Amino acid sequence: MDYSSLKIPNHVAIILDGNGRWAKEKGMSRSKGHEAGFDNLKKLSKYILSKGIKVFSVYAFSTENFNRSTEEVDFLMNLFVKGFKKEKNYFNKENIKVVFSGRRENLRKDVLESMDELTNLTKDNTGGILNICLNYGGHFEIIDACKKMIKENINPEDIDEELFNKYLYQDLPPIDYLIRTSGEIRVSNFMLWQMSYAEFYFPNTYFPDFNEEEFDKAIVEYTKRDRRFGKIDYDKK
Ligand code: IPE
Ligand code: IPE
Ligand code: MG
Repeated sequence: MDYSSLKIPNHVAIILDGNGRWAKEKGMSRSKGHEAGFDNLKKLSKYILSKGIKVFSVYAFSTENFNRSTEEVDFLMNLFVKGFKKEKNYFNKENIKVVFSGRRENLRKDVLESMDELTNLTKDNTGGILNICLNYGGHFEIIDACKKMIKENINPEDIDEELFNKYLYQDLPPIDYLIRTSGEIRVSNFMLWQMSYAEFYFPNTYFPDFNEEEFDKAIVEYTKRDRRFGKIDYDKK
């Protein structure tokens, strides 16, 4: 779809959900669903950022996801290591700058290494930012920002929204459009600070099937939204 005449969001965020159910419905293991999800993430990042959207945030693994079985957590961590290593040249070639949000504590050394490698390789890229939220919790992000400010002896009088944003994991613009796939209608501790005025969209599609066409539909829906930010346009009929 041609996006050039559309009012597009600056920052899109996706809570990628439904990998397990996608696989189950096909009689496959949950692992197969995660693999298909990763593959889709790769393709979708390229598509979204090629459309002039500046930031694409994705929820890949929540702090709460450590409560899944050891087998599933291990599979996901191995998939991240393998995937980041395998696809680092792909993201680099597409001029995508990859950053990560989340707590580094509790992540394996090889996972951290593969994340750092990808970040370093792509740090000067200018074709849009892919923010991967991994071992991420929205409450923790706010708590961690507060801790950092206190450690740096920030004067309480100096704290405003702009300064607070700088102490988050990444200093990103606000989310304009939040999508959660798979029909679940909840936020699950995703970017709470950043989504204050976001428009929400909850398609029933499982993430591995949320392709370019599905994203186009989401954008068409976004263009119909009337974003008021608390104001009223008194002249509007
Ligand atoms: C999303 O898919 C991926 C992660 C949370 C890591 P799920 O694994 O949550 O899939 P469902 O919700 O069980 O279908
Ligand atoms: C939310 O998905 C976290 C990610 C997408 C990484 P879950 O599938 O873990 O969320 P809940 O537990 O159903 O809310
Ligand atoms: Mg889920």
